[in-house]
This record gives sequence, structure tokens and C-alpha cells, in this order.
Amino acid sequence: NRDFLIAPSILSANFARLGEEVDDVLASGADIVHFDVMDNHYVPNLTIGPMVCEALRKHGVTAPIDVHLMVRPVDRLIGDFIDAGASIITFHPEASDHIDRSLQLIRDGGCQAGLVFNPATPLSYLDYVMDKIDMVLLMSVNPGFGGQSFLPATLDKLREARRRIDASGRDIRLEVDGGVKVDNIAEIARAGADTFVAGSAVFKARNDADPHRYDSVLRDF
Ligand code: DX5
Ligand code: ZN
Repeated sequence: NRDFLIAPSILSANFARLGEEVDDVLASGADIVHFDVMDNHYVPNLTIGPMVCEALRKHGVTAPIDVHLMVRPVDRLIGDFIDAGASIITFHPEASDHIDRSLQLIRDGGCQAGLVFNPATPLSYLDYVMDKIDMVLLMSVNPGFGGQSFLPATLDKLREARRRIDASGRDIRLEVDGGVKVDNIAEIARAGADTFVAGSAVFKARNDADPHRYDSVLRDF
């Protein structure tokens, strides 16, 4: 299962009209919705929580919602996001006191589970949990803000993560988040990623002729 998925990060969307923005990127060809949750504690920014996820579901969004938790502690919000309609929930292992338990909470709630690795977080956190995850998310910037530049060291780490996933023989997606653009996505894919988060690259590329379409950038990906 190595088909490529594009996951626009709504961090760069216009929050004043979030429902329409999500409808527009999905209609333009996006596969999943990347939902960045920041708590001004684990990361130095504050965004959106379970109520907004639930609002998107009530608005009619049926695509998978990929919830990226940049929060500490994580477990309480896991339950809230399961109830709010999340599809995939990922968290940073160093932000959880009990990684195995947090993964189990996500799966018990019927969601797909994943771990997120900051640029300097070692992949050894995967050692004992490959059978409990559906996604590995590598940060290619330090988390907290959109619009940062892709850190080139991520490419080697992606190759290493790809090796670990292939060696496990399991169906685990490899997602990359931060600084993904039209001009580097092919190289990132060659390094082993199959799921691509892009925030500013998508939402700053609104089609001139039709403000509701993002086809051009999604096609170039
Ligand atoms: C950063 C977030 C990313 C962010 C990516 O902490 O996790 O999802 O939105 O934004 P771009 O694609 O602009 O780097
Ligand atoms: Zn993210």
C-alpha cells in the first residue's frame, strides 16, 4: 500500500471560513485533512481542539481527519478527539508518560494510531510498538509553526524509517510534515515517504481564477 496521499495542513487555512476551506481542498484533490493541535506548552503556539474537529464533521467533512497532537499531556485529548470524529491520531512519544497506553487508547477508540518524531527525536521509540501503530510521522521542521524550511537531514531519517517499516512487514504509512513544497516533494517521496503534509504550500496557492480551487498545486504534487 504505497499509493501517495496528500494531507493539507489546515494550520495555514483561513480559520474564519474553515469549513469551506476544507471543502475546497478536498474538492481540489486532497486525500486527508491534517489537523494540527498545539497547546502553548509542548509547542509555543496555540491552535484548535476537539470542538473544531467535531464542527468539521458536522459541517459534512467525510474525508479522514489526521489529528497531529502537539500537546502534553496527551491521553485526555485522545479520548476527546475520538469522540470528535478523528480518523488518525498521532502524538509525540516524549510527550506521553506511557506510550504503549496512549497508542492502545487510540486503537481502542477505533482510530488509527501513530508516533511523531521531531527532527532530533530518535526512531528507537519505534522499537517495541511496531505492532501498535498505523503511521510514522517525521517532522521535517521543529513543530509549532507553518511556513518553515524543510530540514535536509530528514531525508536520511526517512530512509531509516522506511527500512524499519519494510522490515516489520506491516502496513504502516510514512508521513512527513514541514516545508513540503512542489520542488522537494519528489525527493521526499524517493526517500520513502508516502503521505505528505503541506500547509503553506497548499493554502498560499489558491487558484487565481477560482478562489475555491487549489488544483494547480495539488496537481503539481
Ligand atoms: C508544524 C505543523 C505542520 C505545519 C506545516 O508544527 O505540524 O503541519 O502546518 O506547515 P508547512 O507545510 O507550511 O511547513
Ligand atoms: Zn502537523
